[in-house]
Parts: sequence; C-alpha cells; structure tokens
Amino acid sequence: MDIVESLGTELRGKKIVLGITGSVAAVQSPEIARLLMRHGAEVVVVFSEAAHLIIHPYLMEWATGNPVVTELTGKIEHIALAGDHSEKADLILVAPATANTISKIAMGIDDTPVTSTVTTAFGAGIPIMIVPAMHASMYKHPILQENIEKLEGVGVVFVGPRLEEDKAKIATPTEVVSTIIKKLGTKHDFTHKRILITAGPTVEYIDPVRIVTSKSSGRMGIELARASYERGADVTLVYGCGSLSPPEGVKIVQVDTTQEMYDAVASELKAESFDVVIAAAAVADWTPKKPRKIKVPTEKAATLSVTFQPTPKIVDAIKKWQKTTYLVLFKAEHSVSNEELIARAHRRLKKAKADLIVANDVGRPGVGFGTETNELFVIDTEKKAVHISKTLKLKASHKILDIIRKRIAKR
Ligand SMILES: Cc1cc2nc3c(=O)[nH]c(=O)nc-3n(C[C@H](O)[C@H](O)[C@H](O)COP(=O)(O)O)c2cc1C
Repeated sequence: MDIVESLGTELRGKKIVLGITGSVAAVQSPEIARLLMRHGAEVVVVFSEAAHLIIHPYLMEWATGNPVVTELTGKIEHIALAGDHSEKADLILVAPATANTISKIAMGIDDTPVTSTVTTAFGAGIPIMIVPAMHASMYKHPILQENIEKLEGVGVVFVGPRLEEDKAKIATPTEVVSTIIKKLGTKHDFTHKRILITAGPTVEYIDPVRIVTSKSSGRMGIELARASYERGADVTLVYGCGSLSPPEGVKIVQVDTTQEMYDAVASELKAESFDVVIAAAAVADWTPKKPRKIKVPTEKAATLSVTFQPTPKIVDAIKKWQKTTYLVLFKAEHSVSNEELIARAHRRLKKAKADLIVANDVGRPGVGFGTETNELFVIDTEKKAVHISKTLKLKASHKILDIIRKRIAKR
C-alpha cells in the first residue's frame, strides 16, 4: 500500500495485532491502524463480537489490506497470531478496549477472538498494550480500577484514557503510535539522554486581555519532543502558548510570557543536568514597557501607543546555567538568500556559544510558522551547513536528532 512507511520506518518488520472491542471509539481504529502502517508496521485486526455493532470488518480489511479475524475457527487464529512461534506478532494492541474486555483479560477469561488472542500472548511473552475507552462512570468502577492495576502489575501497558466531558476518551492515534514506537521502535539511540526543549510562542501583555505574540504554532518543538521521546530520551518540554496539544510521555512545563519561559528554563537547568537543550520556541522579543493593569477602553483610545522593551534573551543564558550541555538553537529569518540565512544564523550561534543552530526562512511557502512542513539548514560552529529539504516537521525532527546524536557521541 502506498501509505506504508510514508511517515517513517520505525516499525518496519513489526507485526501488530489490533484487537477491536465494542466501544464507540472503534471509529478511531482505522486511523490507528493506518498510522501504524505509515510508520512501517503490518497490522492484523481481530474483532470481538460486540465490535461488529460499531464498525464493519470490511472497513478494517480496507484499512489494513489484511483479512479480519472475526471468529476463531479450525485455523486457530489466536495461536497463529499470538502463539509462541517464529511468526508471532510483536505486539497485541487492544484499541479501543471496553470495560468488559479489560476486566475479562484481568480475570484470565478468554471468550472472544480478542480475549483469546490476549490470553495466548501472555503465555508467548508478547507485549500487550491496552487503550481504554468508555463513559467516566464505567471507568470509575472500583473493580475495573483494581483490574487495571492488576494488569499493569503483570506488565500490560495502558495508554490513556483522557478524562473529558464525563468520558474516559480513547487516547489520540498519535499518542498510541508514539507509545508503540517508543516500545518497539528500531531506533533507541537517545535512551538515558536528558533533553530539554523549548517550543511555541510566548505572549506579552499590552493590558490584561490584549497580547503581542508570534505566529508560531509550536509544532516544530512538539515534533522534536515526540521524536526524542520515541527514540528513548527523557524529555522536558517548556511550552509557550502554542495552538497544538503537547505530546504525551514528556514532562510539560507550561509558560505564558518570555520572562516565565526564561525562569522555567533557568530553574530546570539549575535543578538537573541535561545532555541536550534545543531552543525551538519563537519567543516574543519585545514586551510592552508599561503594561496597562486594566483593559484599555476602546471608546477612550482612538489610537494606542505602546513602547516596547527587549525581553530577556534565554538562549544567551543557557550556557551560563549549564556549561556542558549540547546547545541547539533555532533561528527564523524572512525572505533572505541561503547564504545570508546561514551567515546570520552562524553569528547567532557564536553569540550564544551554541553548538548547533537550525535556521529557516519563514518567508518561503510551507516553511516555518503554522505549517506542517519545514525546510532547514543545520549549521555548526565551523559554519558547515547541512540542508534538510522541505519535509514534514516530524521527519525533519528525526534528521536534526540524527545530526545531534552523531555530534554528542564524539564529545
Ligand atoms: C453503541 C454502543 C457503544 C458502546 N460503547 C462502549 C464504550 O465506549 N466502552 C465500553 O466499555 N462499552 C461500550 N459499550 C458496551 C459494550 O459494547 C458491551 O459491554 C459489550 O459487552 C462489550 O463486549 P466486548 O468487550 O467483547 O467488545 C457500548 C455499547 C454500544 C451498543
């Protein structure tokens, strides 16, 4: 299928059994399956009887390109998929998992194709991941909670749920796949590495309701955090006011203003040692000198003059707080030549005593703020530049991490 490996090869050669049970969240299962395939996995789907009430097996056959197991027959499908032999699956993922199926698995009951496959997987030593989805009132059942604890005690990994709108909602496909890549992924070259990443815009207040900010969505820093997490790093994300949700599995420090980001980075770096700091945030460079304490009434102010002063320069302080960390900066320019982009970025790298700088021209189409893609130059202290041609920000993140990995290995 043409979607296979379109986002990466991290799960190449991995066979994942996707167990689907009778939750409305089964509408997310095609997306989960296809995202796994986009990262290289082969997906085989198994249905519980109740899953048929929510989606049709044809949908999953279409989504995965594989026939769906809807009943156990003389072919002993549960053993073929999860028995202890060379063709066995690499992971059993139950997504969505109903309250019923979770409790049955915890009790060792197997009476559906899904529960039988999971039972078999326990004996064959195949990792099991469960993604619950149900109403909050079902999720809060004390026996279900005991059963979840019991399963975690025997090594089952739970992803989510998100408790929202009186529901225990299924984790997002990205969150599920990111957790799987972290567990099964072929690249774990950042294990035991601690990485601090800044991301998103910051805001500066003109008055309590009016702000000055940048067009950054935070996606570049978020994808860097996700990629680092998937490759095994311990990630702290100091996140400004981006429009996107930060990834799961990383420590999030939420901030608002540039001063708050400055203080948060200082406190993290003073408290703990980080192997790498990546400053990807697009902070506001100026802040109103005298922010108004109350909202400026529009009736009284036909025009408004605001005097700005510079915000504190976070990137110039990082090496003072932690001399040995490997410092990677980001620098955005607008409508300049490649030579000028590289020259300006290199000067910025020197000023901050950084080790690497990633530069982009946000004036070019599909590059930089608010876009899903980026085109970048990665420049070192010798002014040697590596060009990363326009690609998805997640892919660009992996390329940047490949460069960082090689550089820190040589230190
Ligand atoms: C439309 C519909 C939606 C349902 N959604 C959920 C759900 O999100 N979570 C849940 O635990 N049960 C849900 N149920 C109840 C389960 O389908 C029911 O407990 C069933 O016995 C589960 O069987 P299974 O675990 O073998 O799939 C739903 C039932 C229906 C009819």
